[in-house]
Amino acid sequence: MNWTEEFRPTKISEIIGQHKFKEDAENWVRRGKMPNLLLYGIPGTGKTTAAYVMAREFLQDDLATNFLEINASQDRKLETVRETIYNFLTTRSVSGQKLKFVLLDEIEGMTRDAQRALKRTMERATNTVFIITCNDAYGVEDALKSRCANYVFEALPTSVQVERLLKIIYEKGYDSGHDSPEEILSKIVENCNGDFRRAINEVQACIFSGAKVEDFINATTKHYESSLASLLAGNSEGMTYLDGLIRKGQSVKDICNKLLQSVMNMDLNTSTKFMCIATIGEMEWRSRSVSPKVLIAWFCSQIMKHERK
Ligand SMILES: Nc1ncnc2c1ncn2[C@@H]1O[C@H](COP(=O)(O)OP(=O)(O)OP(=O)(O)O)[C@@H](O)[C@H]1O
Ligand SMILES: [Mg+2]
Repeated sequence: MNWTEEFRPTKISEIIGQHKFKEDAENWVRRGKMPNLLLYGIPGTGKTTAAYVMAREFLQDDLATNFLEINASQDRKLETVRETIYNFLTTRSVSGQKLKFVLLDEIEGMTRDAQRALKRTMERATNTVFIITCNDAYGVEDALKSRCANYVFEALPTSVQVERLLKIIYEKGYDSGHDSPEEILSKIVENCNGDFRRAINEVQACIFSGAKVEDFINATTKHYESSLASLLAGNSEGMTYLDGLIRKGQSVKDICNKLLQSVMNMDLNTSTKFMCIATIGEMEWRSRSVSPKVLIAWFCSQIMKHERK
């Protein structure tokens, strides 16, 4: 089984990070009522998990009947959404449990019209908690935002991720194969930009493939380091590896992150290190408007040009 699902928190206390949300959530449970929620932030930080945890806390055994999830994999046209929610809200729950939950997961995929149509539905539905999740709050209608308590789910700090990963590894009966696994796990976590889902998947893939976590990390950064070294020596061969990553679908953001880690590992003089870091930063910034292939070529030319000055 996928470890991300196996270790998906089922209680508020099991959610890591997100302190403000957890503190308020405990209070809502204590008081027996809660507001509509908008949870936004980068992937893999616990938004969908938090929605399920809250629904479970309030509904207990009635989760199956009183909880409706509308997610990105479903048809989210205006009429369908309105009809689905209407049917759910007007059906009396078998258990007699009054409160209902509607989760609108990854709402940025829903049309603006469909979002706007929801505002009346939200107002009219008494005894219903709406939980909206998304990666970017800009994708959400202001009218919906103002009908919810807003929480940003932040990138999870490295230390708490490492602590939880160690627990998962030991619970599954694996040995990290290393004297100081924290150090190695930190490197994996740093590669994942605060996305804990990805960190768990990377560790599971690595352990299942039989590779030692350490080898796995070294294998990835080693290629980046040799590409950079070759570019710094004015050799365009260094571009082949980076270009290949783009062709395989790796994101510019990920590449920037690994390049940065490699620069920090390499033995370079201060001005070269500074130039590399500045160029990596500029590449990430430019990635909003420039296509990945062109951007990689630009990056390589900047690094090569510098050395020839
Ligand atoms: N804060 C967290 N505490 C504990 N586990 C977490 C946390 N965030 C993510 N996870 C792990 O990652 C998995 C995915 O989390 P979840 O689906 O809640 O992410 P998400 O924020 O909804 O991401 P997306 O924006 O991609 O939908 C969970 O099953 C869990 O294993
Ligand atoms: Mg989600």
